[in-house]
This record gives sequence, structure tokens and C-alpha cells, in this order.
Amino acid sequence: MEPVSLLQNRRILLGVTGGIAAYKVCTLASHLAQAGALVDVVMTGAATRFVTPLTFEALTGRPVYTDMWHTAGEALPTHIAHVGLAHAAELLIVAPATANTLAKLACGLADNLLTTLALAASCPLVLVPAMDAGMWSHPATQANIAVLKERGAHIVGPAWGRMASGLIGKGRMVEPEEILGHVRLVLGRNGPLAGRKVVVTAGPTREPLDPVRFLSNPSSGRQGFALAQAALDRGARVTLITGPTTLPTPVGAERVEVTTAQEMHDAVLAALEGADVLLMAAAVADYRAASVAPQKIKKGEEELSLRLVRTPDILLAVKDARGTYPRVVVGFAAESEHLLENAHSKLLAKNLDLIVANDITARDAGFGAETNRVVLIGRDGSVESLPLMSKTAVAEAILDRVTALLATGSAGAAPPES
Ligand code: CTP
Repeated sequence: MEPVSLLQNRRILLGVTGGIAAYKVCTLASHLAQAGALVDVVMTGAATRFVTPLTFEALTGRPVYTDMWHTAGEALPTHIAHVGLAHAAELLIVAPATANTLAKLACGLADNLLTTLALAASCPLVLVPAMDAGMWSHPATQANIAVLKERGAHIVGPAWGRMASGLIGKGRMVEPEEILGHVRLVLGRNGPLAGRKVVVTAGPTREPLDPVRFLSNPSSGRQGFALAQAALDRGARVTLITGPTTLPTPVGAERVEVTTAQEMHDAVLAALEGADVLLMAAAVADYRAASVAPQKIKKGEEELSLRLVRTPDILLAVKDARGTYPRVVVGFAAESEHLLENAHSKLLAKNLDLIVANDITARDAGFGAETNRVVLIGRDGSVESLPLMSKTAVAEAILDRVTALLATGSAGAAPPES
């Protein structure tokens, strides 16, 4: 897990209650700490039967709190001494949240350190229920959840699947990666892009030749997905239009799956209604087969010629679409030579505010790589060369520029009159 700017030094109180899913919360604590958060773990007595406090101490590098009355030589018992934890917390997560703890939280009971701190805290609350054997569907639990939701708690899951008893049903805790996505969504919701709509395209397109073959490129979708996550971290509403990729959807993004360039074109134009920003990271095929063979093309002569025709240029179509023009439009330029010149010409031709140029001949950058090395070229001619960095870090840098463009109002040149 790499650092996440949204999580740097954020105070997160992580309450762990007594369910077998507590072992998975170790991964969540580890992810949060590695991402840069300051994670204070509070465990109920039952939770310590499943995982030891030492485990969480080692993962977070901070003391773990379990006992309401322990004084450890201090003048005040723990629940008074540590009420400051509740006040300092920017987010309280309870994972796993058992039916018992949910009931206590709904009633406002304060009979252990966690429920006491929960009552003292005024920060957003994320609850991750996990329970077995039909306890989730019991009317009592459902009534408690309704009360907690009504009070503003963010409920994550539970998921459907096999539970510890062997029963199949709703009650499994959502996986740590997804919980982390919800944490980011809640922490980011008042960020600098709150109230903004951002449309992101990602991945390759596929242009069919026959029912089993297609023309495509090695784009993994990683850079586009990282952009979607960075926009979500800043509070934006995100529509992520993606070509074929197996990457998981960032929590909170609306995913629209497309296959061909034409489908992506249609999806982008439809999504632009009310959009403030378009980030066009997809590697769109420029050509498709003039006609798609209805049956599998059989092996025949030594040579086979394919006739290709142009696909629509999506950014050019956006430029021509009056009335739905986003304030900030960012394009990408994948170049194998004359990086700066070619990228700058694309910026002008496609009426972009910013173009992200990358040299696709470098092995550690661009298509399929985990990392990227890009140059950001602005409409004003500014050139910013970023060092080799993760695609997440590149996305953060791009979103910082987009946020600044929106704030200064210097972006959003109307589409040309011609
Ligand atoms: N793009 C697009 N529609 C296409 C092809 C590309 O909107 N049919 C977008 C890409 O998503 C990218 C930008 O245009 O943001 C530049 O893409 P790139 O492939 O580098 O350039 P092309 O315009 O396709 O030009 P060329 O392939 O000749 O370099």
C-alpha cells in the first residue's frame, strides 16, 4: 500500500469487536497505517479473544486500548484519560461490528471503552457489520441499523457468502480493500472537488474482427482508475467509463463498461451532461475493421488483408458538442517520438486545458506499467516534467492541477466558434 495524500496524518479510531472477521481487520489497520493515517485501535474484550492487541500494535505502531478501568499509574482511569481519542478522531470505523455492538450503538449504551468513545465522538461513523446465522436479517438488527443510518452512520455491507458456521447468507464482512474505499469516500466528501462531476475514461478499446478476435492495445486501465480514485479522494462525483479491464471499481465511482471506440464515444457524450471535468486517459483505437466477419475467419491464403476505417475521435467530438462542454478537459498523448511537439499540437487541435504526455517507448512508463513518467503541458504553454512515479502519484499530480484550474477559473475556454 502506498501513501495516500487524503490519509496523511489523519486520526482514525478503529474499533474492533468480537467476530471472526477481526482477523481481516488486521489487513485494514495495516493498509491505513501504510497509507499514512494515524490509527488508534480500540478493542472490546471479545475482540481480544480473536486477535491480540499486540498484533494491532505492531501493525499501527501505536498503543491499542482495551480496558475501560485500567489506570496504568495514571491519575485517571482509561475511559476518562482517553476520551481525548474520541475528540481527536476524524473518523470512527467499527469493523467488524457485531450485532451486539450495533445494538449498543443504536441505544447509546456506554458499557465498554469502544462504546464509550463512540458516544463521546462527533466525527463521521463507518460501521462494517459482520455476523452469522441469520442475525443480520433479524428485525432487531435491522431496526438498529435503520436507527444508525438515520443518525448518519455510513454502513458498509455485509456481503453475501459463506459464514463461519458454514451457512451461506448475508453476514460476511466486506473485504478490507473495499472498506478502505469507503473510508476514503467519507473522509474525502468535503474535499476541494465536492459538488463537482468528473468523467474519466480508462483502459483500451477493442475493435472486433470476427466473433473471437479483435484489435486492441496493452492499456491496463491503471492510470485512468488511479485518476478516478484521486478525484473521489477530493470529493468529486465520478463516472468512470472503461474499456475491458479486470480492475476493481474505486468505491463510489459509477462504472460504465464499454468495448469499442464508438461505444466509448457514446458513453462519454452521454456522461458529459453536468460534468465539470473530463479526464480522457483511455487508449482509444483509431481504426476498426470496415466490416466485422459474422463467423470466425478461417485460415486460408498465405496473406490476409484487413480494411480498416477510422473510429470517432472522442475529444474532437467533445469539442464540437456545444452546451455540454466541461470546464476542464485533460487529454493524454502517447508518443514514441517528438514528445513535447506532438503533445502540444494535440492540446491545440483538441482544445485541451492540459495534456499528459508520456513516452511509450520507456519500459517503466505508459502502457501496462505500474509506474509512469509524464510531462504535463498546459494550455498556457507551461511544461512540468514529473519524475518516474507510481500511477497513483501521477493521478494525484494531475488532480492537483485540475483543482487549481477549476479554482482559478482560468480553464474552460469555450469551444472554438468555427
Ligand atoms: N483519443 C480520443 N479518441 C480517439 C483517439 C484518442 O479521444 N479516437 C484521445 C485519447 O484518449 C487521448 C488523446 O485523444 O486523451 C490523444 O490520444 P493519442 O492516441 O495519443 O493520439 P491520437 O489523437 O489518436 O493521435 P495519434 O494516434 O496519431 O498520435
